[in-house]
Amino acid sequence: MSIKSDLRVIINSAMTVDGKISTISGDSKISSKEDLVRLHKLRSKVDAIMVGINTVIIDNPMLNVRINNIKKKSPSRIIIDSTGKIPLNSKILRSASQINTIIIVTKEADKDIIDKINSFGAKVLVIGTKSVNLPKLFNILYEMGYKKILVEGGGELNWSCITSGLVTDLILTISPKIIGGKKAITLVEGSGYSKISNGVNLQLVRVTKKKNNEIILYYKL
Ligand SMILES: NC(=O)c1ccc[n+]([C@@H]2O[C@H](COP(=O)([O-])OP(=O)(O)OC[C@H]3O[C@@H](n4cnc5c(N)ncnc54)[C@H](OP(=O)(O)O)[C@@H]3O)[C@@H](O)[C@H]2O)c1
Repeated sequence: MSIKSDLRVIINSAMTVDGKISTISGDSKISSKEDLVRLHKLRSKVDAIMVGINTVIIDNPMLNVRINNIKKKSPSRIIIDSTGKIPLNSKILRSASQINTIIIVTKEADKDIIDKINSFGAKVLVIGTKSVNLPKLFNILYEMGYKKILVEGGGELNWSCITSGLVTDLILTISPKIIGGKKAITLVEGSGYSKISNGVNLQLVRVTKKKNNEIILYYKL
């Protein structure tokens, strides 16, 4: 299955100097207000924002565009959720009748759960058997007109996207903090490579240093 050449898949993430994207308790408010403005501007320029189900469960995000002077409507929201365990009281489902929302499940999801999600106004696509088949998903999304997709984590989804060869851009805010914790989620989780030589190579295209000592790294893959 070929991925189209004008498909852009951008990972944006904020991490601490020690590579964590959340603390041991799941606190992920790492970016400064200024960096969040940048993120929301980026959101306003993409067709869809994608996150993994753990991020929805832990952060309960809205995933919309919240900048006063930007008129563009919020992009679609795509949630990767094999079994359909998205909380029924999540902000995503509660706003699904106003903002286009697609929940991607697999054959593991019960029909009752799919019906329940549909009843909030969210669309459900069944793609994959155990975990969501991302190459297939991105092809389907492309055919649906989604050509610029912003992936906002978490670590497991980042790993799957990067190792599937689907990601074109990585934008990384490094916050001048160290938070530690073996169980704190890092930028990329998954099973990992055993050799450095197998790692995914990145090309650094731009670096921005902010007055608050945040650094923003722009990579191409
Ligand atoms: N600082 C930041 O920029 C930032 C951004 C986002 C998130 N976060 C933090 O990241 C943490 C969550 O990250 P996480 O790594 O635990 O989870 P995640 O990436 O949000 O979600 C992963 C889950 O998605 C489901 N999934 C289904 N198909 C998949 C596939 N092909 N590849 C990967 N996942 C698939 C799996 O659950 P099922 O099998 O149950 O479907 C998997 O466990 C939260 O603490 C959040 O606060 C930080």
